[in-house]
Amino acid sequence: MILPETSLPPLRCPVCSATLNYAVDTEKQLLCHHGHSFDRAKQGYWNLLLPQRKRSKAPGDNEAMVQARHRFLSQGYYQPIASEIQASLMNLLDQNQIPLLLDLGCGEGYYTQQLFHTLTSKHQNALCVGLDISKPAILHASKQSKQITWMVATGADIPLQAESVDIATLIFARLLPEPTAQVLKPGGYFIVAWAGPDHLRELREQIYTEVRDSDLNPDAQLIALFEPIETKVVKFQFTLSDQQSMDDLLMMTPHGQKAYP
Ligand SMILES: C[S@@+](CC[C@H](N)C(=O)[O-])C[C@H]1O[C@@H](n2cnc3c(N)ncnc32)[C@H](O)[C@@H]1O
Ligand SMILES: [Zn+2]
Repeated sequence: MILPETSLPPLRCPVCSATLNYAVDTEKQLLCHHGHSFDRAKQGYWNLLLPQRKRSKAPGDNEAMVQARHRFLSQGYYQPIASEIQASLMNLLDQNQIPLLLDLGCGEGYYTQQLFHTLTSKHQNALCVGLDISKPAILHASKQSKQITWMVATGADIPLQAESVDIATLIFARLLPEPTAQVLKPGGYFIVAWAGPDHLRELREQIYTEVRDSDLNPDAQLIALFEPIETKVVKFQFTLSDQQSMDDLLMMTPHGQKAYP
């Protein structure tokens, strides 16, 4: 038997909910005791999204959106957001326990990689899972870091065992409180980042004749299952350095369709 090089997080078979482990003699396949198997993609990620869970042929962000988000984020425009989330994570990490972090709707992994860095700065053996329904996003992410467990899956049916996750994060992605609460350990934490009312206000003023305040606030959706601990407001201004950054920002937001119909 070959001993696994990388520790697997406690995975759950998306078909029957049994435990998934590496198949005997290979780390290239996952197997449950009912015989459901999942091959590792050559880039290293796992596809645990069942066809019946897809609402479209290629769900989630497409290749062009993934590329645009990657170009935009790698310019560092949103680094203040990443840094604030990292600081919150650092405060939550327990000195004695090796944590498992799940980043839901992780996209191309910009934040996931930084969160992993924070985790491993405190716990060398920390486990980190990046989950997204978009195959192009996970494909991109898996080329960036091999130590994170990347999976194509839906946040509506998370293929991790119940009560196995110490900290879940959800950054500008769709909130699905119930499945998230199921995989969190009792006393686990959920860090949610969302766009406040002033998010990209100057840009929206250029595009729309009437700029409406976003009233998006996840508190109402979370309150039944989670106890709020802290809310932080991150406010900063940035100047787009070139046309490419402007195009990329529009491409990764819903405003792009209005600007370039
Ligand atoms: C606005 S992007 C944010 C990506 C990343 N968190 C970031 O901020 O860079 C939203 C992401 O959610 C993913 N997504 C949409 N529906 C999903 C679902 N049901 N389960 C998991 N991911 C989903 C999309 O594919 C996309 O990558
Ligand atoms: Zn199974």
